[in-house]
Amino acid sequence: MDGNGRWAKQHGLPRVIGHRRGANALRRVVRACVQRQISVLTVFAFSSENWQRPETEVKALMVLFVHSLRREVEKLHEAGVRLRFIGERGRFDAALQHRMDAAERLTANNSCMTMVIAVNYGGRWDLTQAARALAADVLTGRLALEKVDEHALSSHLALADLPEPDLLIRSGGEQRISNFLLWQMAYTELYFTQTLWPDFRVDDLDQALAWFAQRDRRFGRVESTQLRVECA
Ligand code: FPP
Repeated sequence: MDGNGRWAKQHGLPRVIGHRRGANALRRVVRACVQRQISVLTVFAFSSENWQRPETEVKALMVLFVHSLRREVEKLHEAGVRLRFIGERGRFDAALQHRMDAAERLTANNSCMTMVIAVNYGGRWDLTQAARALAADVLTGRLALEKVDEHALSSHLALADLPEPDLLIRSGGEQRISNFLLWQMAYTELYFTQTLWPDFRVDDLDQALAWFAQRDRRFGRVESTQLRVECA
């Protein structure tokens, strides 16, 4: 969800207003994804590197997260959305951690769409914590060294129980992954748009989905496969 800061600058507004408009854009997109029977939506809300932003901006983002959770969780629950947070949440203050835990508990049995919110997340952090867990399994004898393979490593990653992403949408014009789901995006289709996140509308989402539908996905093989759509 890139481009909040530039959107604010273009409109002569403080960056925090860009983030607030970004939260509005996210609300539109989530609603549209449920309607379009997307089974998993993962958003990158705060990276491990974002702590390096000015303290005022970090504080404003934390306030926005708490406020958004307070405002949205019940509505998401009613819409059948299961919420999950990935990342190192121990660094957030207790009230925010409590809201994340409560939102996960409340929505745990919902099955229409899983919304994953990556907070204090980094793809390298994810791989490192998975490697550490794997090493612990070997050290304690739960796993033989010969059994360390791709499956064993990926079973410790943050999204282990969810399918790998089919499509990445990055707004704001940059064409890079920025330490997002590094392992999980091995075969993800990458879609970049100049649109700044606060301006991202349902039409932009539909354009990205139409682009995705034209992709020939071979996963290193010759024949292509189709996107699965599931909503229980
Ligand atoms: C990147 O834009 C955006 C962020 C670091 C924050 C994303 C947060 C939201 C959209 C708020 C809503 C989220 C939730 C989960 C309620 P940037 O600030 O890097 O923009 P720039 O590249 O133009 O400076």
